[in-house]
Amino acid sequence: MRFDDRFLEELKSRLRPSEVIGKAVKLRRNGREWVGLSPFSKEKTPSFYVNDEKGFFHDFSSGKHGDIISFLQETERLSFVEAVERLASEAGMALPVQTPQAAQAEQKRQSLNDWMELAARWFAARLHDNTPGAKAARDYLKKRGLSDQDVAHFGLGYAPKEQTALKDALVQKGAKVSELVECGLLIEIEGKAPYDRFRNRLMFPIEDARSKIVSFGGRALDPDEKAKYLNGPETPLFHKGSLLYGLPKALKILGSSQTGPELVVVEGYMDVLACQRAQIAAVAPLGTALTEEQIDILWRRHPEPTLCFDGDKAGMRAANRALDRALPKLKPGKSFKVCLITGGKDPDDVLREKGALALRESLSETQPFVEVLFKRERELEPLDTPERKAGLRKRLRALAAQIEDKDLADSYRQDLMARYDALFQRQPQNLQPRFQSAQGRGRFAYRDAQGRLIEPPTIATPEGQMAARALSKALDPMAAALAQGLLDHPDWMFDHMEALESYGLGDPALDALVRALVSLSFSTSPLDSGAVNRHLQNQGFGALLSEIQKAALRSASPILAQDKTLADAQAGWIKAFNAFARLTALDRALKAARDDASAEFDAEIFARTKQERDSLRKALKSGQIFEAESDV
Ligand code: UTP
Ligand code: MN
Repeated sequence: MRFDDRFLEELKSRLRPSEVIGKAVKLRRNGREWVGLSPFSKEKTPSFYVNDEKGFFHDFSSGKHGDIISFLQETERLSFVEAVERLASEAGMALPVQTPQAAQAEQKRQSLNDWMELAARWFAARLHDNTPGAKAARDYLKKRGLSDQDVAHFGLGYAPKEQTALKDALVQKGAKVSELVECGLLIEIEGKAPYDRFRNRLMFPIEDARSKIVSFGGRALDPDEKAKYLNGPETPLFHKGSLLYGLPKALKILGSSQTGPELVVVEGYMDVLACQRAQIAAVAPLGTALTEEQIDILWRRHPEPTLCFDGDKAGMRAANRALDRALPKLKPGKSFKVCLITGGKDPDDVLREKGALALRESLSETQPFVEVLFKRERELEPLDTPERKAGLRKRLRALAAQIEDKDLADSYRQDLMARYDALFQRQPQNLQPRFQSAQGRGRFAYRDAQGRLIEPPTIATPEGQMAARALSKALDPMAAALAQGLLDHPDWMFDHMEALESYGLGDPALDALVRALVSLSFSTSPLDSGAVNRHLQNQGFGALLSEIQKAALRSASPILAQDKTLADAQAGWIKAFNAFARLTALDRALKAARDDASAEFDAEIFARTKQERDSLRKALKSGQIFEAESDV
């Protein structure tokens, strides 16, 4: 046979059966599988099934059963070799040249692989030793919320402190020291006897697409250790840049997902574990920026994977690197969504602190690629001079031009330019300001980006008119106080833009206003209360603004109390805002759980979520939220 097993497995793991077969047979999703009309017989009711997870098709009308290779053989009358060649080119794989050397290398890899599997079993066993080190490792796992089942499922282990514990064990089983060096388990330094690479570390086996263990990641258990995580080196088995941690298990989750299956790329080992424990298909690159190869692997599995980053500085840097790496490769129908988790948390923190529902909820809050790209460029520098404005325009054009697919590059340019134009929309001429901020804190000139006095638009926007019409019910007083806080101090919103866009202000009647405020914040004119209020007034929000004022007075909230310092008022605002945001997130999580009748939601987590939601609601209604020690 010209193709060895390794090649064929790799080929099959790279292609999704539903995609290959879907080109010939119209398929629709049916739970874990895909179903369509049999290509082998004339039928009216579909009895042809494709299962991506298991990698086969089954045709009940003819009894035919097989993989993507036999599918092509059957439907296109190709030979085995022809079918493989066709699929290999689809998968972007070079055909193997069968030389004696290649055969030898394959054998070598197999024997190295055996040592890796054995090492994994050995590390796993060491975790249960009766030594202080192993005990500390078990305690650490417990502290991080991993159960014995999780530990077994992810194959976690413990590398003891001794210099040559693993080496001695594997040599005793027949391994050659040179082999163990070659597969990265031992370190060889000139003039010294090779010794264990991983010592006193928690061990994460790294599997390739065929679920074979090809390397390890080790997390330091000693907080003084310089490298928190240590990965194995490049070896004949392990190529860091062409592998994603957690892929085989993520594909299982993806394959069994009943509702809107998402594929999420997170930053670290622990984040992959956290997501997969919450039944979210997640993978991670291994401590490096996404490579082009990894991007291709992701796209073979999902048209629009979600890139998830911590919303902190390091996370944003990683996000930017990933955006730059992916941009040139975007294609029609192949893109990424971006999820920035706020509060400096990573998915593992979210799971531990708030549970699986909250994690799913925060991962579902994504932004389109183009939007994140635009925001990044917009925020690079203030847009207060014509030179800088033109600079932004130029950068946006250059970014669009980076996309290799010319059609898509064109669409990107148009989209980015439309966003740019929206930033600097010209306003019509000359009207006196008619509105003063709620507390009459003086009038402010309304200026454009160059500081010229300009006039607010005279025509109410459809949004504004709609907001006025929607004003039938009384506003929630606390939400109104929150809104009034922003109308008086628009600058308060800057630290909370993401949350504001995602969660609003706690009353859906305020959503249109929130959108208007957010888009005002994009304008580069100084955001003072007078200008903002005038602008909103002229967009048709006048009726809503006076309702807000009335309702806010009823709230007796300390946000607006005259006897507070500005700092106290702002602190109160932040407290209430965060509480409302959390309340909305909890509401959504509960709703998702209810809508999702098929999935087995953990009843206990559901009950806990509901309980938190209810008590938060009460605390907001009663004003208890502002009491000194309340930290809801
Ligand atoms: P982080 O430092 O964000 O750690 O590294 P984490 O995943 O939150 O880890 P915990 O929760 O403290 O255990 C993210 C990823 O970057 C790589 C690893 O792959 C890690 O999972 N990394 C990090 C390294 O390769 N080496 C390091 O020293 C640190
Ligand atoms: Mn972490």
